[in-house]
Parts: sequence; C-alpha cells; structure tokens
Amino acid sequence: MKTKVSIIGAGHVGATAAHLIFQSGLADIVLYDIMQGTPQGKALDLMEAAPLWGISSSAFGTNDLADTAGSAVVVVTAGLPRKPGMSRDDLLLANKEIITNVVGETSRISPECIFIIVTNPMDIMTHVAWKASGFSPQKVMGMGGVLDASRFRTFIAMELGVSPQDVEAMVMGGHGDLMVPLPRFTTVKGVPLPELLPHERIEELIRRTRNGGAEIVALLKTGSAYYAPAASVFEMVRSIVLDQKRVLPCAAYLNGEYGVSGFFVGVPVILGGKGVEKIIELRLTDGEKAEFTKSAASVKELLENQRLT
Ligand code: NAI
Ligand code: 2OP
Repeated sequence: MKTKVSIIGAGHVGATAAHLIFQSGLADIVLYDIMQGTPQGKALDLMEAAPLWGISSSAFGTNDLADTAGSAVVVVTAGLPRKPGMSRDDLLLANKEIITNVVGETSRISPECIFIIVTNPMDIMTHVAWKASGFSPQKVMGMGGVLDASRFRTFIAMELGVSPQDVEAMVMGGHGDLMVPLPRFTTVKGVPLPELLPHERIEELIRRTRNGGAEIVALLKTGSAYYAPAASVFEMVRSIVLDQKRVLPCAAYLNGEYGVSGFFVGVPVILGGKGVEKIIELRLTDGEKAEFTKSAASVKELLENQRLT
C-alpha cells in the first residue's frame, strides 16, 4: 500500500498541493473539505488525469474526516479568507476554531501522522494545531519559510539573470512582515549574495520578499498565492515521505534555540520521516539575531493576545 497523505481544505492551495503530490506518484491522496462535492470533484478530476500522467496513485475526495484515517502526513489548508468588515483578530478566531476541530479529530484517527500547517496566520495556527493534537512538537510544523525563501531565490535569479535552481536562500522568523531573509546564508552556486550585489539592491529584494504575499494578492484581487505555496508544501511532504532529511526553513517549536522558548517560529530544520528531526542553529550576527528576536516577539505577542501560550 502507498503512503497516504491527506489534505484538509480543497481550495486553491490544498487542491494544487494535491495535484503536485498526486502527479509525482509519491502518495495516495485524500482531499477533505466541508464544501459538498468540491473535494470529490477535484479528486475525480485528478484520477481522470492519471492515465495521461502514467501514474497509479489514487485520489479520493470526501466530506468525512474518517476517510483520512491512517495518514502519514496531514496538510492543513482549511480556513476562511478575510471578508469585508472582518478584523485580523476575527479571522484568527475563526481559523483557530477550524484548526482546533480538524486537527483535534484527525490526530485521533491518524495518531502516527505528521502535520504541516498552512492556514494563516500560520505561526499561530501551528501552535493551535500542536495543542489540539497533543502530539510531540517534532510532529507538527508550519509552512512559510520554504515559500518565503523560494520568493527570495526567484527575485535574486531575476536580478542576476541566473537559473533559480542555482540560488539557495534562507529566510527565518515569522511568516509575516517581519520575516528575516538572510543574505549571508544566501548563495548563488556557493557564492554569498553580499559578494554579488550591492547592499541597496539586496535590501530592495528583501523588501520585495517581505511583501511577496501581498504583491500576489494585489494582482489577483480575489485571493492569495497558491502555486508557490503548494510547491512549498510538496517539497516538505516529499522530504518527510522519502525521509530525505532536507534542510528547510519551517515553523518549528523552539525550546531555547535562538533564545526562544515555548512557541513556533521559522528556523532551518532537518525534515525527515520523523518530522522535525533537528533544529539547526546558524551563527547569526548581532544584527541578524536582533531581527529574528523582533520577528519571534511579534509571534509571541499575537499568541499572548489570544491567550494561547
Ligand atoms: P481557499 O479559500 O481557496 O481554500 C480554503 C478551503 O478551506 C476552502 O475550500 C474551504 O471550503 C475550506 N474550509 C473552510 N472551513 C473548513 C473546515 N472546517 N474544514 C475543511 N475545510 C474547510 O484558500 P487558499 O488560497 O487555499 O488558502 C488556504 C489558507 O492558506 C489561507 O488561510 C491562506 O491565508 C493560507 N496560506 C498560507 C500560506 C503560507 O505560506 N503559510 C501561503 C498561501 C496561503
Ligand atoms: C502568502 O505568503 C498568503 O501567506 C500567504 O502568499
């Protein structure tokens, strides 16, 4: 039997992640949503592409969480978008309830699973999911840093006229305006970025990276990014399912690392079959550390405002 990966929320990010995982043949997919017919229709559509893609995985759509039983990985993208008149806090409270319910139930029916949380505000929702699951923090993580680093890599590749696959980047901190792109740990075929571009250009690319989600929203007008977010989910799922032990920035539970304790924030980790197998502590300069501390403090403040710590 193939590995089972369940995706909670069959919207833009969830369905696109399902597509990537399914087309790769990495796992069988269960797509769950509260919308009647949506997960079933999208899963059937994927199944009908299988002969053309030459794959033998299965995709199954459902409105019953029980069908996710036995999942190795559960990706949570379910959530409400922000509606007119709704504050960030209103959105947070609504998504908190959704995450508490779906993660509470899926953790009981797939007790061995690893959770990847995507729903925003992601760092906070990862904490909510961890509490709702009762799991070890090693088995719960958030997706943000892979996406932010991919955006930074893209902008650097565009600026230098090189292939994006030759650009490596590191972005730490919360998945928000205070995220911390790190030029010293960003390289083009091993050459650190500060040796390739003047400081002002790097600062401009950092600004664009921090604004990456908003830039797409401003263009789409009716929703947020999903191709790059789904590709980021896929990279994390693959590292877990194939036990690749990739070094990827993820929202991980810190227990003293980087001077932070008791909550989730983006740091480089080794991602393997057991989930977050190790948190990698980079030697940051005082300036980099100050930026990270500020970003982590903003996550903590939101958690405390919501009495979630
Ligand atoms: P979407 O609106 O297209 O999809 C959300 C889906 O969740 C909908 O199909 C909806 O029916 C479903 N849903 C709502 N309540 C549910 C429940 N109780 N159980 C199951 N499904 C439920 O939104 P999209 O674009 O897919 O984004 C999903 C979430 O991911 C949003 O919170 C978005 O802000 C976040 N996001 C986070 C990123 C990150 O880097 N962490 C990147 C991109 C999006
Ligand atoms: C993004 O960065 C909305 O968090 C989402 O595109």
